Amino acid sequence: MSKIILTGIKPTGMPHLGNYIGAIQPALELTADSSVESYLFVADYHSLTTVQKAQDLSEMIYQVSAAWLACGLDPEKTIIYRQSDIPELFELNWILSCMTPKGLMNRGHSYKALVQANQQAGRKNLDSGINMGVYNYPILMSADILLFSADEVPVSEDQAQHLEITRDIALKFNHVFKTDLLKPPGTLVKTQLLPGLDGEKMSKSKNNHVPLFCSSKELKKIIMKIKTDSSAPSEPKNPEKSILFSMYKAFASKGNIEKLKQRYQQGIGWGEVKELLYVCLEDHLLEKRKVYESLMMDQKRIDAILNEGAKKAREKAKPLMQKIRRTIGIS
Ligand code: ADP
Ligand code: TRP
Repeated sequence: MSKIILTGIKPTGMPHLGNYIGAIQPALELTADSSVESYLFVADYHSLTTVQKAQDLSEMIYQVSAAWLACGLDPEKTIIYRQSDIPELFELNWILSCMTPKGLMNRGHSYKALVQANQQAGRKNLDSGINMGVYNYPILMSADILLFSADEVPVSEDQAQHLEITRDIALKFNHVFKTDLLKPPGTLVKTQLLPGLDGEKMSKSKNNHVPLFCSSKELKKIIMKIKTDSSAPSEPKNPEKSILFSMYKAFASKGNIEKLKQRYQQGIGWGEVKELLYVCLEDHLLEKRKVYESLMMDQKRIDAILNEGAKKAREKAKPLMQKIRRTIGIS
């Protein structure tokens, strides 16, 4: 049996450099092995927890799909689909909800972070502004993974807890129904975390991100705005403490990384580092950006690819869903 790789990206905006380094690139590298079976999807219903404007969500679904395709996803080899096109996921979501202890969701870090924010703001109602989608989020993510019996889920460390929860839910289901139908996902494929413009984890929600496919002009403008210290060009600098270096390291070749490291130690002006980073990113993204832009002009083509992917994904999902139904006594 071939190894199954699966990962999803929430359409909450155009993907950024962190999404590329942490999810898109590692997933595509894994799919390059012709013996693996791969599922890469747009987690559109997960976005609904925060994106509640129809036009925005619709546009972002295209942006994420076009980004996967522009970065090299081959729809002949990899199944690409919208989460919302697979009704079996939402059926499994309910079944898994009934297997999930409420306490497990109370410990979900995204939910806990919002409760903490309410606490810090001095609000009496600690659940203020938190919808049930946020609370149940990890269960739907478990359904995404378990319905396709994924072996490996390339995500970065911020998603590690969700994978733990997925394993717990799968084992609980198997225990309750004395079965091994649900496969707990194996290794967390750890990928590096890219810092954002402020040195914190790059994230759309923190607005510290560099969009993957902004124009070259905008890319340059964003890079030039990255804060640096006031050291003179001739002063030696520590690459490990530099946001610019972390970004460069994620995209440049080994040889060029080593060269820049030496330049840091000898002393280099921040303006020059910014220019090197810009050229490196532009080099990496130029061709992909062209493909992205042409796909965004042809949304019918994206729809056709996603519809075809959904068909294939449902064909894969149905047999397991039928077994699950029989196992729980619903036929
Ligand atoms: P965001 O935090 O911008 O909303 P998502 O939560 O949609 O990003 O993440 C999509 C994927 O990209 C996940 O697999 C996540 O682990 C990865 N990812 C997000 N931000 C980064 C980052 N700064 N560095 C590396 N990977 C990241
Ligand atoms: N929760 C993931 C994120 O915020 C997106 C996601 C949804 C996902 N379902 C998934 C990732 C299943 C991997 C597998 O980035």
